[in-house]
Amino acid sequence: MKTIFSGIQPSGTITLGNYIGALKQFVELQDEFNCYFCIVDEHAITVPQEPQVLRKNIRSLAALYLAVGLDPNKATLFIQSEVPAHAQAAWIMQCITYIGELERMTQFKDKSAGKEAVSAALLTYPPLMVADILLYGADLVPVGEDQKQHLELTRDLAQRFNKKYAEIFTIPEPRIPKVGARIMSLQDPTKKMSKSDPNQKGFISMLDEPKQIEKKIKSAVTDSDGVVKYDVENKPGVSNLMSIYSILSGKSIEELETMYEGKGYGAFKGDLAQVVIDALAPIQKRYTELMESQELDDILDKGAEKANEVASKMLKKMENAMGLGRKKRK
Ligand code: AQP
Repeated sequence: MKTIFSGIQPSGTITLGNYIGALKQFVELQDEFNCYFCIVDEHAITVPQEPQVLRKNIRSLAALYLAVGLDPNKATLFIQSEVPAHAQAAWIMQCITYIGELERMTQFKDKSAGKEAVSAALLTYPPLMVADILLYGADLVPVGEDQKQHLELTRDLAQRFNKKYAEIFTIPEPRIPKVGARIMSLQDPTKKMSKSDPNQKGFISMLDEPKQIEKKIKSAVTDSDGVVKYDVENKPGVSNLMSIYSILSGKSIEELETMYEGKGYGAFKGDLAQVVIDALAPIQKRYTELMESQELDDILDKGAEKANEVASKMLKKMENAMGLGRKKRK
């Protein structure tokens, strides 16, 4: 069975973008692969986080993973900071990464743009992600389009380590969904939808209430020609809404174009709001039950135990290959 690793940052309540680009795929993959899904809280602190809010977001994200359908009997769900090998392996990977490689990363450029001071960790974020993936010998990494560049770096660093020290790493492949790999902001369809967007109207959170969802979709930026047609270049706003509609309803883009011919944006947006509300309702119900249960913590404890076992073995291989310590670690 091939192995999959993927993570999500608890940097806010996850959005419809995270769900479509990442979580939805996770659920589809759990039957076929040996899956590790991680709440990457150490990644989240590369930008300032309020401690109480972060702690709440970590548990909330865990509940959402399960609420969308992740089965803890099939996949290992755990919190990154509960597996110390991640930070240790990240240090090792930083030692074989060049600063130039990190400065070229678009996520670093986007997140540091216009800021007076950013943490060193925002720059060294990718080697931590590399460590996350390589520790589990992942063959595949299901991610949205925005993470493609980090995945390319992961492959380069794994190959570099294998060549220089010892052939211990599997070279992972990204798995990017064909549709919905990049859900865009509802307010600026040239920017990706992000959970940390200060403009709340730009994203739909998985926990938004029906009224909020309706309001956000109705105020989503479109264009003035009133035709429901998929054309990313000339109609990015409408095309983004059509992608969301298509993925959540199972209707093809062509079907949607036919359905809304001559109907204008009002009817289209009203129906889309209902599609989103209906898709999120069962997830939100299960989420509330899980947040109040002991089951959630039991699953996370078990997940950490399994992940620690696997990750610490690979960390020892890395340390041994590099000659760390007085003697080989067993
Ligand atoms: N807009 C998106 N469309 C499709 N997929 C997306 N992903 C993120 N945004 C979109 C995918 O979600 C997974 C988890 O992402 P993450 O939390 O690790 O970091 P991110 O990519 O930086 O996500 P956000 O929402 O933009 O978080 P913040 O605002 O904290 O930076 C990844 O697989 C990602 O590809």
